[in-house]
Amino acid sequence: MQNLVSMEDLSVNEIEHLIETASKYKNNEETPSLKGKYISNLFFENSTRTKCSFEMAQHRLDMKQISFETSTSSVQKGESLYDTCRTLQTIGCDALVIRHNETNYYEDLLDIGIPIINAGDGSGQHPTQSLLDLMTIYEEFGRFKDLNIVICGDIKNSRVARSNYHSLTALGAHVSFVAPEIWQDETMDGTYQNLDDVIDKVDIVMLLRVQHERHSAGHQGFEKEEYHQRYGLTEARYNRLQDHAIVMHPAPVNRGVEIADSLVEAPKSRIFKQMENGVYLRMAVLTETIGKGAE
Ligand code: CP
Repeated sequence: MQNLVSMEDLSVNEIEHLIETASKYKNNEETPSLKGKYISNLFFENSTRTKCSFEMAQHRLDMKQISFETSTSSVQKGESLYDTCRTLQTIGCDALVIRHNETNYYEDLLDIGIPIINAGDGSGQHPTQSLLDLMTIYEEFGRFKDLNIVICGDIKNSRVARSNYHSLTALGAHVSFVAPEIWQDETMDGTYQNLDDVIDKVDIVMLLRVQHERHSAGHQGFEKEEYHQRYGLTEARYNRLQDHAIVMHPAPVNRGVEIADSLVEAPKSRIFKQMENGVYLRMAVLTETIGKGAE
């Protein structure tokens, strides 16, 4: 695996191997090191979880970080993404982690000679989020096949929905969607459901953030409470979940919109478990792309 830019590039075997590797790191069955390797994290869009958990993963692997901030870089002088990445490769970076608001931003970067790890491209893909979600699901159920999963919310603008729909379907899960008509996405062929019709049948309810920054105007016609009642995880819906069902959300969470404030840390919520797993999963992605045993 040289680059990781889309879940569509990973085989089922590669997905399973990454989850297995991350689990070994989590359980202290292996102590990997990328000592002597340099990496830069280029975040052209805001991030807390992805940026900080990549940084944590890199510290745990004993890597050296080359700091890069868009606000103080030559991007402000008009330097292109390609020239920025070629510069970092030329001065000695061994890999780049990039988040960018342009879908498929990575197309010109795949052959620059060092791994490109996509930390989210516009409404395209978010492969490490998908992989950490898969790791969390596997920890819970020990399988993917025939799990019933509903993905709820802003499907059209969500790179998490796109990445997870592809990977979960490839792994044999049954995925359906809940979304207002304006946020449905015809490029994915899953069926759209009414949340109240499926809430007591699913194994996993996967909530998505309403992506205000990708909308032209606010909630596009929804008041916060109206959205919550029609499409969100209310306490009444939570109480109808099967005993074994879990709740996931990539976060950040709009409390009281996608999920009731009181449910973010409820017993069935795996939201913080997802974040914890993200560190180990990103360690696995780094060792698989850059190479183990580097010195
Ligand atoms: N889930 C996720 O990508 O969160 P951040 O935007 O905070 O990185």
